[in-house]
Amino acid sequence: EKGTYPHYMLKEIDEQPIVIRKIVKEYSDNQGDLQIDQAIVDAVKAADRLYIVAAGTSYHAGMIGKNFFERLAKIPTEVHVASEFVYNTPLLTKKPLFIFISQSGETADSRAVLVKIKELGYNALTITNVPGSTLSREADHTLLLHAGPEIAVASTKAYTAQVAVLAILAQVVAKGKNIDTKIDLSRELSIVASAMETLCDHREDFEKMAREFLTDARNAFFIGRGLDYAVCLEGALKLKEISYIQAEGFAGGELKHGPIALIEDGTPVFALATQENVNLNIRGNVKEVVSRGANACIISMKGLEMKGDAFVLPEVHPILTPLISVIPLQFISYYAALHRGCDVDKPRNLAKSVTVE
Ligand code: M6R
Repeated sequence: EKGTYPHYMLKEIDEQPIVIRKIVKEYSDNQGDLQIDQAIVDAVKAADRLYIVAAGTSYHAGMIGKNFFERLAKIPTEVHVASEFVYNTPLLTKKPLFIFISQSGETADSRAVLVKIKELGYNALTITNVPGSTLSREADHTLLLHAGPEIAVASTKAYTAQVAVLAILAQVVAKGKNIDTKIDLSRELSIVASAMETLCDHREDFEKMAREFLTDARNAFFIGRGLDYAVCLEGALKLKEISYIQAEGFAGGELKHGPIALIEDGTPVFALATQENVNLNIRGNVKEVVSRGANACIISMKGLEMKGDAFVLPEVHPILTPLISVIPLQFISYYAALHRGCDVDKPRNLAKSVTVE
């Protein structure tokens, strides 16, 4: 039930801090150490490469997951859009493990891949919010998101839950491989949950940004590098899906290879700046678009902020920034859709779970 909330989407955005805390609890042992079913840890450890397969928002969570598996657990990882993978299967390594990420566990494109790889004799792990869903039943292993039912078509809390569960899996596998990641992940995730609360308290700021940057906008761009790039794709999907504003996410460095031609006087460009190693680069990219007339909205993180930034996110561990940088973008999409009188929870032409290929 949405209770006093006008929309499920707003309620589900607000639930994210609780979901993160719940996930940490569900994946902790009695001593408070993170734990994952040993059979799953062994399956991941045994793989010479992970193939993450997903669609839409879950694919964007997979892009973050690739970073976790490679950076923390040192396992080469590929991320694939399910509908592409099934008919254009790449060359596979000798010992692949497939990881399906799906809120609903019912997405037909992902299921088609699962059927195919099972025929080939490979193992699969499904990360889903729905126990007993098709992708869960047909895979060898399941990890649950514990996000509670997600009703709004636009995925919000399932995305952050997916990212958190992927981080926990990568961290536990790293430990199983005796890799010291130097991250106290439980602690870092509770810092994330508090930061999320702070952001939810700032919704009015994000409503203002939606007004300032998106009233009358025909299109909008999201630019970022590294982890921020993946979040930009998610921010753009969210905005286009519910507000019908044409929105695209670009890697900051790619702008000059084409997309910058789209910038006109007043074009809104949202830029994420949460990654220290590319902070100056993304700032440079913002200058490039501003000098062509763009209306830039920079969302940075504490410690990396500069004069003129529209919003400074509370500091979290650099690898976990996608859990918080997405929240302003969720709110901005929500308010942009609301201001335009769109049906926020049930956008046109879309279904909550896509059960046809
Ligand atoms: O249930 P799934 O996670 O498999 O769904 C995948 C996509 O259909 C889904 O994430 C879609 O992109 C959302 N509407 C995005 O908000």
